[in-house]
Amino acid sequence: MRKVLIAGNWKMHKTAAEAEALATAIRDSITASSVPAEVVIAPPFTALDRVSRVVKGSPVALAGQTMHAEDKGAFTGEISPAMLLDLGCTHVILGHSERRQLFGETDEGVMKKARVAIDRGLVPILCIGETLDEREASRTFEVVGRQLEAALRRLTPDEAASAVIAYEPVWAIGTGRTATPEQAQEVHAFIRREIARSHGDAVAGAIRILYGGSVKPDNAAALLAQADVDGALVGGACLEADSFLKIVRAGA
Ligand code: PGA
Repeated sequence: MRKVLIAGNWKMHKTAAEAEALATAIRDSITASSVPAEVVIAPPFTALDRVSRVVKGSPVALAGQTMHAEDKGAFTGEISPAMLLDLGCTHVILGHSERRQLFGETDEGVMKKARVAIDRGLVPILCIGETLDEREASRTFEVVGRQLEAALRRLTPDEAASAVIAYEPVWAIGTGRTATPEQAQEVHAFIRREIARSHGDAVAGAIRILYGGSVKPDNAAALLAQADVDGALVGGACLEADSFLKIVRAGA
């Protein structure tokens, strides 16, 4: 049985003090009434230290929003896996569509970083998804299949089983236009079939596939009820404790 995972991607929001307050509210609510879902939050780098102190020893896990593939070096502006680990991160989001579209990340880069994350003991949350143009040109499966294949190519079956896939149709991110539960399920089922083909049935049965793209308290339950939707990667609705916690509880 796959445990539901709800991850909050805070993107470029919250000062360190605001982040500390939000993380405290999430932690307190989750520790007060235990939730069956696994909960991961990804604050901006500048808030990781403060948030790490808040969630330490609690069921709330910490993620980086991206990382460099090297542990150190002359890479101005970048953050290394060692730095994420140092601040208590257990997870890292890789290949988010904003990274791909705005910062030039490629399938090749995601492939490399996924390998490094696993080597360093970070759980990679590997984001894949088609743009609106690609969907309208009936290229969804081709694009998602290609991104998936690259993200998992360098991982053994055991390693792949411990990774997390996030299907995030680009047209649904931050637009308020969510995929219907049926649209999400169709692509999630495709992703699981592809993983069965590349890494075997056991991996396909174990790996968690999250949906992301305008997940809100009022649509989360229907999305999470789909057979192949194992959690959510939440952007806008994770910036307030109330709405994020409602999504966390919708996964119960
Ligand atoms: P959204 O973002 O929930 O604001 O659509 C999701 C994401 O980008 O991970």
